[in-house]
Amino acid sequence: MAEAQDTQDAVQDKPIKQRKNRLYPAVSEELAAVMKSGWADTERHGLDPIEQAPYAAARRAALSARFPGERIVVPAGRLRTRSNDTEYPFRASTEYVHLTGDQTQNAVLVLEPLADGGHRATAYLLPRSDRENGEFWLDGQGELWVGRRSSLAEGEQLLGLPCKDVRKVADELRAATGPVRVVRGHDESVEAALADKVTAERDTELKIFLSELRLIKDAYEIGELQKACDSTARGFEDVVKVLDKAEATSERWIEGTFFLRARVEGNDIGYSSICAAGPHATTLHWVRNDGPVRPGELLLLDAGVETTTLYTADVTRTLPIDGRFSPLQRKIYDAVYDAQEAGIAAVKPGAAYRDFHEAAQRVLAERLVEWGLLDGPVERVLELALQRRWTLHGTGHMLGLDVHDCAQARTESYVDCTLEPGMVLTVEPGLYFQPDDLTVPAEYRGIGVRIEDDIVVTDDGARNLSGGLPRQADEVEAWMAALRG
Ligand code: GLY
Ligand code: MN
Ligand code: MN
Repeated sequence: MAEAQDTQDAVQDKPIKQRKNRLYPAVSEELAAVMKSGWADTERHGLDPIEQAPYAAARRAALSARFPGERIVVPAGRLRTRSNDTEYPFRASTEYVHLTGDQTQNAVLVLEPLADGGHRATAYLLPRSDRENGEFWLDGQGELWVGRRSSLAEGEQLLGLPCKDVRKVADELRAATGPVRVVRGHDESVEAALADKVTAERDTELKIFLSELRLIKDAYEIGELQKACDSTARGFEDVVKVLDKAEATSERWIEGTFFLRARVEGNDIGYSSICAAGPHATTLHWVRNDGPVRPGELLLLDAGVETTTLYTADVTRTLPIDGRFSPLQRKIYDAVYDAQEAGIAAVKPGAAYRDFHEAAQRVLAERLVEWGLLDGPVERVLELALQRRWTLHGTGHMLGLDVHDCAQARTESYVDCTLEPGMVLTVEPGLYFQPDDLTVPAEYRGIGVRIEDDIVVTDDGARNLSGGLPRQADEVEAWMAALRG
């Protein structure tokens, strides 16, 4: 790929300046003139709004009601440099996506307070590239380099709200009067424009509110999470079908196989896939994925497809690589399965959020005492949390646009909350016996098991969004046998 001639900053704030290009040191006037014209009008008219537009409008209404009279600024974020002039794939900020349904790079949502109450929401977007000033073909983010964008008029139809040129937003924000809050951490130039108007404390309040606004998913979001889980189930099937190839290569084959499904059906993986074979399964966040895949061992696969609308699944299955659990593997697997069953049974409206964690931990503690790994009674073990040596992490978390969704929510709104219909959470107990753990019999060492599902709280109980994938040991073996033929 040849060098582009400028960076995204030129698009936003600065005039187009030619970057050094060793092959084309200068642009001739004749070429510049000829590049301005001869392009068809591709403006699209009569576009239907995106499906999430009414849901995003309702979320903005809640935001407006919470911060009357204040200007609220929610940036989508910018490209981040990976190395030199290459960037990580762009992923719009969760807050911006939740409030607009849009994913435009560099965009900014502004809620401007109105004199008679309420707010006017405007999406400031990167518009089509200008053909007159050369931005179209000379700038690294020009459409000739990165592809066509929606025009502002198209954006208005798609998003159902007024759209303006994002290159004006910094000046407008600098000139604005009255109280302002900004979602920090996504766009330094927007934050710089607001530096003398905002406080960390007030911005944190905004971030907390937006995190808590996502605690209860609407019907659109639950549909998207179901799609994410369905795609993820297909990705797990893909992996089972190629386990023999993985055996001949490494965990990387598994990672690549799942990634293919994520990219073909969704936007990406929602988090780094954990493809942990054998003793790697005891490393909670094993994402190096460069180890061998050996028959007789277990594969712990924790992976999730992120939909094109950026909702992610978060699913774990622990699979016998050769298709059959050994008796000891099955004993440990069954304990985790029973813990998960107890956890899932505790997910229902009106239950405390902590209930599913406690229900699952109780089962794990009981088994560890039964196996002689811990001295009872179980109540003592639970009180001192002694089971944590082998099950370090919590039993679950909220799920949505972020894999660990609603992370800024207050303790009283999250871990101390009562479950309500529309909440989506993972239930993911595990047992992990480190290869060098001298407190367990040698045969336990190097075995790690986690089972993780995505559960939506319904009006009368809960539904397992990832229940399309078998969990019970016999069913896992039968499913693997059927897929491998
Ligand atoms: N995949 C990370 C988690 O399960 O929380
Ligand atoms: Mn999880
Ligand atoms: Mn997970």
